Amino acid sequence: MIDQRSLGKRAAARAVADSVKTGQRLGLGTGSTVTFFLERLAERVAEEGLRIVGVPTSEPTSIRARELGLPLGSLDAIESLDLAVDGADEVDPQLDLIKGGGAALTREKIVAAAAARFVVIVDETKLVARLGASFRLPIEVLPFGWRQSSARIAALGLRNELRREADSQPLRTDNGNYVLDAVLGPCEDLRALELELDAIPGVLECGLFVGMADEAWIGGADGSVRVIHRPTR
Ligand code: 5RP
Repeated sequence: MIDQRSLGKRAAARAVADSVKTGQRLGLGTGSTVTFFLERLAERVAEEGLRIVGVPTSEPTSIRARELGLPLGSLDAIESLDLAVDGADEVDPQLDLIKGGGAALTREKIVAAAAARFVVIVDETKLVARLGASFRLPIEVLPFGWRQSSARIAALGLRNELRREADSQPLRTDNGNYVLDAVLGPCEDLRALELELDAIPGVLECGLFVGMADEAWIGGADGSVRVIHRPTR
């Protein structure tokens, strides 16, 4: 049986999929919530002849989208996207996000940045008063010299550890890199922190998405969906 959180994820994902218009070029995020989105898109393609092209942000998304028969393209061929849809690990009241629970943060950020509109789909449990409250901040680093990168991140006050697979081998992203999961305490200026992290040698990208999401569609276990727009800063 489907659990309460998944019911919320599915409600939000299906509502956004129902709002997609024919001809749109879509960024396809990564994760269980996005899987519900892909499934609803595929239903609409089959039932209504909805025409879309999607740019996947990970190998798992690419595989699932192909299984569902969704047309895919590469970002280099498509250049710009009408809409990117993705899940998140935490969403704060400014609609700033922590992402990267599925280790796809770098491609997710590239795709979200290429979209005219970026919509996040979550269940209620992802809403937090401040980022870092319940989830660690993923940071993608090059395997070469990763301990150096880790030490520099720790020197910024973010204790971190290497993400590992069940067999204790370091997890590799689709880009062949490692992920450090960092404890994020209260932070006055998330954008400044994002820039500081991204400036560390060996850091590819961090999972802070500051000022990127335009809307969050939040699903409840009862099937209800509400939409929050990014407040003007
Ligand atoms: C992957 C992500 C996901 O969007 C995030 O982890 C949420 O996943 P889920 O929808 O499974 O809860 O950032 O890198």
